[in-house]
Amino acid sequence: MELTNLRNNSALMGEINRIAEVAGYLWTNGWAERNGGNISVNLTDLMSEEEKQLPAICAPIQLGEVMPAVAGHFFYVTGTGKRMRYVAQDPFDNGSIIRIAEDGKSYEIIAMQPIAPTSELPSHLLMHNYVRSQGRDNRVVLHTHPTNIIALSHCKPFLNSNHITRVLWSMIPECRIIVPKGIGIVPYEIPGSMDLARATVKQLEEHDVVLWEKHGILAVGEDLIECFDAIDTLAKSADIYLNARMAGFEPEGMTDKQLDDLVPVFNLPVK
Ligand code: 13P
Ligand code: ZN
Repeated sequence: MELTNLRNNSALMGEINRIAEVAGYLWTNGWAERNGGNISVNLTDLMSEEEKQLPAICAPIQLGEVMPAVAGHFFYVTGTGKRMRYVAQDPFDNGSIIRIAEDGKSYEIIAMQPIAPTSELPSHLLMHNYVRSQGRDNRVVLHTHPTNIIALSHCKPFLNSNHITRVLWSMIPECRIIVPKGIGIVPYEIPGSMDLARATVKQLEEHDVVLWEKHGILAVGEDLIECFDAIDTLAKSADIYLNARMAGFEPEGMTDKQLDDLVPVFNLPVK
């Protein structure tokens, strides 16, 4: 009998190609030095029952925390230490598909190769678990290292969620529209730690984008391109702000009224 070949699943491969596309954007934008950044995408709805039965290609690995809302779910995750520029070329050589156990306590790799998931897997899965437990249809977690946003996180006033959100929104109208919930802030924590994961999940109560002090940014969403667009728009605002400062002036920014006037026109949540 021929083994199930995930490469024949066009819906799934479409999503994998999307991951490769976005990995390329992260690299070309200069946000992905060496192995900087990681991506996870929930593939559960794209897989057939037969594909879901694929045998594990590694022993089960404990998660350290129970994740009931993603029990039995399947994710593509970039591999730890893998470079985004190579994820762009071959996602299955630089990441793997994992299955969360039915008790939500462990995972196993089912395809294509036994490539260990990103060190930020605790953060990613805790976030997937949280958004699903809230009934939100967010399938994607994207973490990357945008230079100018990280630069702002080295300046104390920008570690205030309202302040950084207000400044970045006020650089261009699109920022208020594309990132309507603004940015949450997580003070510095060790990369890959459960403390970082828990602090990030707390920020998701009010935000879809979270800044990790002196480290990077993270977005959750239904669609990987939308997550990328949210970070890209914030990065554009950070570029404008810092370019103005480097030119020697404090940018004026849009007024409160100009920002508020966008709310009814674009049906935005009031903040
Ligand atoms: P990984 O290579 O383990 O994904 O780590 C990269 C990173 O950005 C850690 O925050
Ligand atoms: Zn990182």
